[in-house]
Amino acid sequence: MKISIIGTGYVGLVTGTCFAEVGHSVTCVDSDLNKVELLQSGGIPIYEPGLGEMVTRNVAAGRLQFTTSTSEGVANSEVIFIAVPTPQQSDGSVNMSYIETVAREIADCITSYRIIVDKSTVPVKTAEKVAATIRRYRRANVEFDVVSNPEFLREGFAVEDLMKPDRVVVGVASQRPVAAMREIYAPFAAPFIITDTNSAELIKHAANSFLALKISYANALSVICEAAGANVQEVTRGMGLDNRIGSRFLQAGLGFGGSCFPKDLHAFIKISEELGYDFRLLKEVQNINASQMERFVKKLEEALWVLNGKTIGVLGLAFKQNTDDVRQSPAIDLCLRLQREGANLRVHDPQAMHKARPILTGVTYVDDMNLVADDCDALIIATEWPQFASVDFARARKRMRAPILLDGRNLLDPSKMEELGFIYKSIGR
Ligand code: UGA
Repeated sequence: MKISIIGTGYVGLVTGTCFAEVGHSVTCVDSDLNKVELLQSGGIPIYEPGLGEMVTRNVAAGRLQFTTSTSEGVANSEVIFIAVPTPQQSDGSVNMSYIETVAREIADCITSYRIIVDKSTVPVKTAEKVAATIRRYRRANVEFDVVSNPEFLREGFAVEDLMKPDRVVVGVASQRPVAAMREIYAPFAAPFIITDTNSAELIKHAANSFLALKISYANALSVICEAAGANVQEVTRGMGLDNRIGSRFLQAGLGFGGSCFPKDLHAFIKISEELGYDFRLLKEVQNINASQMERFVKKLEEALWVLNGKTIGVLGLAFKQNTDDVRQSPAIDLCLRLQREGANLRVHDPQAMHKARPILTGVTYVDDMNLVADDCDALIIATEWPQFASVDFARARKRMRAPILLDGRNLLDPSKMEELGFIYKSIGR
């Protein structure tokens, strides 16, 4: 199948590359000339495990190409995926201008039947609006279909999630595009759900909000566990083994961040409001998430009393492991908060330091994770990178001014850290 993908962010680039990997012919379009030139010269603009090799392989095989020209992409393909950003606006609503612009560009250059697939995370009823826009701006009476095909990949695991999806959701307004969508996804051998476009869009809102709710549930439990002298990891393990609940996304910690959950929650609450429903449950999910950070800072203050003038080491800047993405990262929020309190920071992240530098200034970036704790009054784990469990904590303990270790991701074994002489605090244990 000949496919074009408009927008080469996390979703667009990984989707296009995985489509090429299974044999489709893919043209990725992006308006950012620098990004396209980087991709054309074999570079990758994001850190995503396994992606670089896959891009190189498929470019070499002639199945994957990059361009800045939407008309070239549209001319080269039967199916056009829209994967441009839908950033949050100050009132919590979603900025739809990138999608609207792409819809008009497509309308301007289609000369025969095309399937236009919405892959970006969008408010319900977007497919209807994209269809209305193309209808309004198309030059002749060219036929087309707009399909909603939400993406469920996680950053850091994007290639794996795309190659082995739990399900493929396809929302359609007519049966005409169904065969092509089946053909595109046949190599992925996943359950295929065909539904209407509004339901497909709501599946994405509902899934992300439910996952965020699971995390906030675990975080709320962590508060009870601390008060009751229980261990949240034991409690969630016991819960999660019930198949109806499931064990994933029950990790208590500093709270969820990233470019998806916080934004999608805001948007879903706002959309629900517009549809006449006050989604108080999701508002509480947000409140619990925000209070995790407050509780964590309070723990640090209890340990150190005054933060002003203290040196604090922070392991982790990315919003989670396996990514260099620092958008809405709880780790960065924590650093900024500690800076406001007057603390000096020594920070490290295996992948995200280059992206953190412009937004987190006035800190010491430390290349070796083992040296972060040197001369610190406290050391914090802020991101769940698994390699942080292998920091040389015995050495760190000796080099610190005070042996305070706060684990915001429950990564370490409390008894081992106490044996090493740390005053160790984590979340809900
Ligand atoms: C999320 C969803 O998991 C994807 O299914 C969805 O496609 C994507 O949003 C999107 O809408 O594009 P992502 O934001 O990449 O993916 O990252 P997650 O793995 O979901 O993690 C989000 C945040 O939750 C991170 O800050 C992570 O540290 C936190 N988290 C996750 C927890 O605090 N506890 C957990 O148990 C799991």
